[in-house]
Amino acid sequence: MEKYPMNLRRLRANTHIRELASDVRLSHKQFIQPIFVSETAAKSKPSDSLSQVNIESEASVLKSIEKDLTADVNKFLFFPIPEKSKDALNFDFGCKTIQAIKENFGDDIWLASDLCLCSYTSHGHCGHLNEDCTKVDNNLSVESLANYAYQIALAGADCIAPSDMMDGRIQAIRSTLDQHGLDDVSIMAYSAKFASSFYGPFRDVCDSSPDKKIKLKDRKTYQLDPANKKSALQAAWRDQEDGADILMVKPAINYLDIINELSHAVSVPLAAYHVSGEYQSIELMAQHGLMERKDGHVEVWNSIVRAGADIIISYAARKAKEWLNN
Ligand code: PBG
Repeated sequence: MEKYPMNLRRLRANTHIRELASDVRLSHKQFIQPIFVSETAAKSKPSDSLSQVNIESEASVLKSIEKDLTADVNKFLFFPIPEKSKDALNFDFGCKTIQAIKENFGDDIWLASDLCLCSYTSHGHCGHLNEDCTKVDNNLSVESLANYAYQIALAGADCIAPSDMMDGRIQAIRSTLDQHGLDDVSIMAYSAKFASSFYGPFRDVCDSSPDKKIKLKDRKTYQLDPANKKSALQAAWRDQEDGADILMVKPAINYLDIINELSHAVSVPLAAYHVSGEYQSIELMAQHGLMERKDGHVEVWNSIVRAGADIIISYAARKAKEWLNN
């Protein structure tokens, strides 16, 4: 009998069989939508650097969440954009906003809050600096972060998401929360957060780029080195040991290998943050007619889950339900 080439196309022949045969299953339920609220904004305004993303005011964020709930978008990562107050660490605006959101929506939403000092320090670094501004003062920064985490938790956040990359912060935050009876508040640790060029649009939105006039010009001493996989794995294992409930890899697409490796190595849920620069690359191509917006994002989401992540943080999370069901 003549041997024909094996036909692998039978399982790709139409939508129905592709749906049956696929081994990556995406659901809008696994998405987290980042939200930005600015202390100085009088109303909701579109961001110049992140297409289709609005910067909300204290009042408009409530309307925006109300609308999201009607579309089954109910998990959020909150970023406060406080008015710059010259190094006097004043967390009132962020905490007040969290409190207003949770008072309004209670358990209808899950609210995580980013935890970092970069929007508060005059130099834009994620922690305090030493006297001559050559490096971050790790332990002093951890103290401020744990205090900030306590205030956020007290305001009602469901989860604290430290993105600062100081050593020892997960342990310090966990024990501070527990000491104050806030043991139900979870921690989503930005564990494998790389010193990436893909945070540009976000820093523009939050005005949080490191000041180029001081000696420490970038975040390479505290964020991870893209050329060092072992230290990313070490950081994740340590954060799991220290009590993180969820671990995160960030950015997502350039670090799918790290997602994959951690998905086998850790026992807590794994989140991947498709960051601002990754998101905006798709948006810009779409705007130039070089890619379908929906197709670009959905392909990325499939890759992230295929690599082993359980949770996706995406600026397009709002569209997930619509896009994944059509
Ligand atoms: C704050 C923080 C950053 C992001 C999340 N939290 C910026 C940075 O580390 O410089 C980036 C998110 C994105 O680019 O979408 N430290």
